[in-house]
Parts: sequence; structure tokens; C-alpha cells
Amino acid sequence: MCGIIGYIGNKQAYPILIDGLKRLEYRGYDSSGVAILNENKKTSIYKSKGKVSELEKYTSDKDVCGKIGMGHTRWATHGEPNDINAHPHQSANGYFTLIHNGIIENYSNLKKRLENRDYVFKSETDTEILANLIEYIYIKGKVSAEMAVRLALTKVVGAYALVISCKNEPEQLIVAKNSSPLIIGIGQEEYFIASDASPIVQYTQSVIYLNDKDIAIIKRDEFSYKTIKNDILSPKIEKLNLGIGAVEKQGYDHFMLKEIFEQPSSILDTFRGRIAADFSKIYLGGLLDVMPKLIKTKRIIIIACGTSWHAGLVGEYLLEEFTRIPVEVEYASEFRYRNPIIYKDDIVIAISQSGETADTLSAIKLAKDKGATVLGICNVVGSSIARETDAGVYTHAGPEIGVASTKAFTAQVTILTMMSAMIGKEKNIITEDKYKKLILELISIPDKIKKILLLNERFKKIAAMYKDANNFLYLGRGYFFPVALEGALKLKEISYIHAEGYPAAEMKHGPIALIDKKMPVVVIATKDKSYEKIVSNIQEVKARKGIVIAIVTEGDKTIKEIADHVLEIPKAEASLVSLLAVIPLQLLSYHIAVMRGCNIDQPRNLAKSVTVE
Ligand code: AGP
Ligand code: GLU
Repeated sequence: MCGIIGYIGNKQAYPILIDGLKRLEYRGYDSSGVAILNENKKTSIYKSKGKVSELEKYTSDKDVCGKIGMGHTRWATHGEPNDINAHPHQSANGYFTLIHNGIIENYSNLKKRLENRDYVFKSETDTEILANLIEYIYIKGKVSAEMAVRLALTKVVGAYALVISCKNEPEQLIVAKNSSPLIIGIGQEEYFIASDASPIVQYTQSVIYLNDKDIAIIKRDEFSYKTIKNDILSPKIEKLNLGIGAVEKQGYDHFMLKEIFEQPSSILDTFRGRIAADFSKIYLGGLLDVMPKLIKTKRIIIIACGTSWHAGLVGEYLLEEFTRIPVEVEYASEFRYRNPIIYKDDIVIAISQSGETADTLSAIKLAKDKGATVLGICNVVGSSIARETDAGVYTHAGPEIGVASTKAFTAQVTILTMMSAMIGKEKNIITEDKYKKLILELISIPDKIKKILLLNERFKKIAAMYKDANNFLYLGRGYFFPVALEGALKLKEISYIHAEGYPAAEMKHGPIALIDKKMPVVVIATKDKSYEKIVSNIQEVKARKGIVIAIVTEGDKTIKEIADHVLEIPKAEASLVSLLAVIPLQLLSYHIAVMRGCNIDQPRNLAKSVTVE
């Protein structure tokens, strides 16, 4: 959680920091702050509760000159969001200033020890304890700033991405990471430090992804990289391959809307280069080495959180249908704490947009420790999960900035479809004909989504009718049950309307009691093998005066007669319809949230990547 930005070079740091914080704000936005080291070796710290715009207002008449600095946008874990708890934090005697993403788990132990040595704390954060621990070691041990940082980090349990400055060594920044992401952008006699590439792409494409328990000591003209145990390393410099357009709104009112509308092209990017030109073959290079294991495995376990977990549920249906391998889908947070049974020949697939979700990362480590082969489906290139897994596939959907995940979901389902078809074909579970049909159906999906997007005004009208509802129910069967869950999640996270997703047949086992004339029920009711059954479920809702908004296959006449509203989507192979059915649900939530005056890209209490447990 939280966004970190740092700069050291020959330009003024402040504009780079503020611009970077705005790009990183989606990661956390309850307070923000900057520290600027000026030419007179003075460190000026400005912090403000609320959005980065508040910080900008606050600093408008302040001295922000200086060519070295750091900025932070917080998602509070320890201590309420206020000016004092905002980062940067400074040690008691002012020697060290730092920003931190993560949690120092043993903070209360460290705090007691420091209090016994007369340290007094101003904030309620775990972060301030670290600043003081470093200072204590620095003064007591009479060591360099770098050594004080390294020694302090050996005493820390938890997750951190840190940018640290020392007033006695003002021409350098020290950065370190463990479990929280951090990358360094390399310019001309300048370096950019950030939680992700979004604030860096406009300056440089050359980056270093820090590894866990590594530390970098950065001066304008000198760079050293080592482990916190002082083993010297040579950093791997990688290319970003990301344009600035990818991290801007490009005329859309919100990133979420841009990302919904990007789906025809983002899905294309997901399968680009992975399907043979004559549409005869799927090629996921990242899986080739593990294909023998995938074919032999007796079980696949999918681990993920939130929307990625919903994609995992679609994956369960796809994999079981096309490969006949039993699949279990687990919330990473539950899996890791319940002593799960994991066999050495299990294949675990971790799905994550950000590649940084703490629970998913820990579940991966557990599965690896038990000897399973772990694959990743990630969007963010170079992310921790991408690097922690044995093999995997990137979704290549481009940066997703809106906190509510949209294009990541369709990209994940696209990969899971390709993966299932590839394994099914290798195992001879699906015929050559079925395999080719699936490929052709998949490549027709982007155009079908374009058609759905043309109905945007219609979705808006329906949103206007139900924007004041207090509750929504989403129903679906088979492949559409996870879509119902995803529709409900989208609505609650951005509009704050209570919504539940249910398997349509389960409705009569409880939720039906909720139905009255005020309850909008969104039903995914496209033509497939359970069509007749879902028509009956719609009748059951109508019999109790519920309002039915049905997602139906183009040309459907039966449901038109009984539902209050029908939203038509193009016909497609049943296993792929989830890629289409989710689009109206994303847009419905979007418009409802806009009409309720909610903050679309930064919904309350949420943050984009959940790097804390
Ligand atoms: C989705 O809209 C959410 N904001 C959230 O549930 C998200 O999908 C979840 O936190 C998982 O994130 P990841 O895909 O980056 O691991
Ligand atoms: N644990 C720190 C705090 O509560 C950092 C949280 C974050 O990553 O934003 O301030």
C-alpha cells in the first residue's frame, strides 16, 4: 500500500515529487508529504492530511527548493490518517528522514527498547520507530548512515520499501526493500525511486527492480547496490517498454472508464503474439517448461484475492471443462493460515494484477516451501509475484490505475482460457476442431466488446433509475456466478451500495427473502445450457415484485417479456461469455457511482495494491 517517490539529480525535486505522488495516489490517499533537502543541507518536511492536492495547496507558499527529495502518499496501517502520522518521518534528533511503505511487525518491541533509551515518539506509526532505531544505531555505534540502516534492518520483522536521507550525509539517498515494491529509474546523473513505474516512465525507461533485503546507496554520480548483510551485488538494469499515455487519462473522466473502454485493445494485447497467424495454435512461452508437469498434475490450486479471485473462479470452470484436472480456488488469505494440504505434484496458480498483494505473495511462499510448482498470472511486469513464481504468464493489459479492477479481470480470464485450451489440447481432452473453434471465438471477443461499449448511454439510463437503491443482488449460473460476484464487488467498492453476488439457484435458499419492489436484481441470463433454469429464477424474482435487469444474448425474446430491462450482448461460445457479460456490469457500477458523486478512481478506504496483510 502507499506510494513512494524519491529524486536525486540536478533538477528541482519538488515538481517531480508532486507529479509522481499524483500518479501514485491510486495506491493510497489518506495523507501525503514531501521532504526536500536544500543546498544548505537543510531538510524541509511538509505533510498534509487528505489528497495530494491538499499538500500542494499547503506548500504553495513554502520554500520547496532543492534537488534531492522524497514524497509519500499514505494508506494508514498504524495510526489514523492525520498530519502527524503522515510521512516523511524524522528521527528524534533530526538525523534521519524517511518514508516507508509496509508494516514493521515487531514495532512495539522495538518501541519499548527505544523508550527505555529515552526516545519519545510524536506519531502513532510503526515507521517513526524505524527512523529512531536507525538514528540510535548511528549515534551509539558511530557508524555511517548506510551501516546504521543496514544494521537496523537486520532487527526489523515485516515489510518495507524505504527511502532514507541522513542530514550528515546530505548528498545521498538510501533505499531498501523487503516484500513491498520499489524500483529505481536511471537518468543522466539523476535517479528516480518509486513504488511502481508510473511516475518514472516520463523520465527514463531504464530501471532496476530491487530484490528483497537489498539496499542501494544513491548519489548523483555514484550508485552502489548490496544486500543488507553488505554483500556487494551488480544490479540488473531492465527496460520498461511503457509509454506515458499508458498512465494518463487521455480524455476520459476517470481511469476506470478509460480502462473499461480499453478492453478491446487490452485483450488483444493479452493474446497478441500468443496465437499463430493462421489461428491454429496457442503459444504461451512462459508455460512451455512446466507443460509436462501441467499435463501430469492431479490437481491445480488457484490462489488470489478480490477480482483476481473471481477470475480464478472462471478459471476453475475453464480448466475443469477443457483439461479435466480438478481445480480448487482459494482466497490467498485463508489458504496461507489454515495449514492447507499441498502435494509436491500440485500446480498452484497465483493470479494478481499488481503482483504485489501481500496475502497472495505469502501463499506462494507457503506453496513453494511445500514443494508445489507455482505459476503466476500477473499484470505488472517485474512485480514481486512475477519474480517469486517458478514460471508464469503476463497479462500485458497495460497499467491499471483505477482502484476498481476492470481490464485486469478480462485479461486474466483471457489467459486462463488460453491456458486451459493449451493444456486440454496437449492432453487430448479437447479435439482439434474444438481447439480451433475456441481460438477463433477468442479472437472475436474484442470486436464483440466494442459492440457492447456502444450501448454505454443505455447503461447510463438504467444507472440513473437505480442509483438510489440501497441494495443490489447479482445472480448467475456456471461461468456467470463469478461474473455475478464481480458485478457486486464493482458496485460496492465504488458506489458504496450494498450488493451481493449469488449462484442463481441458491437464491431460493435465503436471499429470496430480501426481494421486494425496491430490490434491483441483475441476472446474467445469456443462452447456454442453463438458460431455461435462469428464466425460472427470473420468474421467481418477478413473482416477488423484484426489479430484473437481465444481461441477455442478442435477439432474446423470452426474457424481454418478463424482465424490466434487458441488456443485449453478442452471442459467443459459452465458456467465453464471461468476458462479455462483465462489461455491462462494470459500466453500470461506474455510472451509478458517478451519479452518487463518489470518487471513482480512489474509493474510500481502499487502495490499489494491498501490500499489507
Ligand atoms: C478489485 O476491484 C479490487 N480493488 C481488489 O479486490 C483487487 O482485485 C485485489 O486487491 C487483488 O489485487 P491483485 O490482483 O493486484 O492481487
Ligand atoms: N505502516 C506505515 C503507516 O501506517 C506505512 C503505511 C503505508 O504503506 O502507507 O504509516
